[in-house]
Amino acid sequence: MSLEQLAATASAMVAPGKGILAADESNATIRSRFDAIGVENTPANRRDYRSFMFRTDPAMADHISGVILFDETIRQHDVDGTPLVQYIKDRGSIPGIKVDQGPREMANFPGERVTDGLDGLRDRLRDYYAHGARFAKWRAVIDIDGKLVPTPGAVKANAHMLARYAALCQEEGIVPIVEPEVLMDGANDIDRCFEVTEFVLKKTFQELFEMRVQLEGMVLKPNMVIAGKKSPVQASVAEVAEKTLTCLKITVPSLVPGIAFLSGGQSDVQATAHLDAMNRLGGNPWKLTFSYGRALQAAAQKAWGGKTEQVAAAQAAFAKRASMNGLASQGAWTEALEAA
Ligand code: 13P
Repeated sequence: MSLEQLAATASAMVAPGKGILAADESNATIRSRFDAIGVENTPANRRDYRSFMFRTDPAMADHISGVILFDETIRQHDVDGTPLVQYIKDRGSIPGIKVDQGPREMANFPGERVTDGLDGLRDRLRDYYAHGARFAKWRAVIDIDGKLVPTPGAVKANAHMLARYAALCQEEGIVPIVEPEVLMDGANDIDRCFEVTEFVLKKTFQELFEMRVQLEGMVLKPNMVIAGKKSPVQASVAEVAEKTLTCLKITVPSLVPGIAFLSGGQSDVQATAHLDAMNRLGGNPWKLTFSYGRALQAAAQKAWGGKTEQVAAAQAAFAKRASMNGLASQGAWTEALEAA
């Protein structure tokens, strides 16, 4: 696969006004989302839920450049036999696939995790390509706990696996989304998040360099630099935007075409406001957009509640978040538009 083709896919993933829908919840994760709305976690309910999201018109075509899928979904067909992947392609959006197998406790590093999934990855990538995937995702999770966690050893292991994954993806013609997520669940302040994110991104790009990953053919999916949820001191939108951009400018080479943030547990509107503020500051070498899971889907799940008669309302809720974030990806979102 040529670098030109990888670069063209990566650019399309971060096209102006568009971002990525992370609908790759594992069956265990979607269970907790469904539990919250009283929906039974069956293959049919997962199919129906994803089917209506992917058929949301015109929001999917207008604002969703790509969709990250879970293994079950990329193979799943709708009631009438249409592959769910077809709905995505029909709207000019690109199917993607989560290929990591989740974080596990790391030997010798109590309280830290490393992501599984490199074994057999080349063959799985070939199968996913045949099913239509043109990009993939691998998520590493980095916890913050006081000054001692994360350790350099755990960060290095996660960065190395991200780079090995990315190299294999590019070999198979698949654009890697490289996702080193520093979690925002802790009690740390924003400056500790900055320090850890800077360290993690530096290690990640060092490993990407050593594993000969071509930066033009990847997308970075980082956390924003933000205070932990349990911190008594929460930063303003302006501070999050300014510190996140500074951190990224220190660490992310300008050849990377785009940065698509995860939402990480921010509220829907917070995730939109932060992205918008960063794009308003402007002057960045890379596109800045969204690759949200919860911040794109939470409102739609609530509106749906598993009821067929609520599908139109749920699609409207999804369309609203997609369009607000599409505006934010261009620095054109306002509170007035949000309230409208
Ligand atoms: P959230 O936006 O809910 O953090 O999910 C994005 C994602 O893909 C995490 O891996």
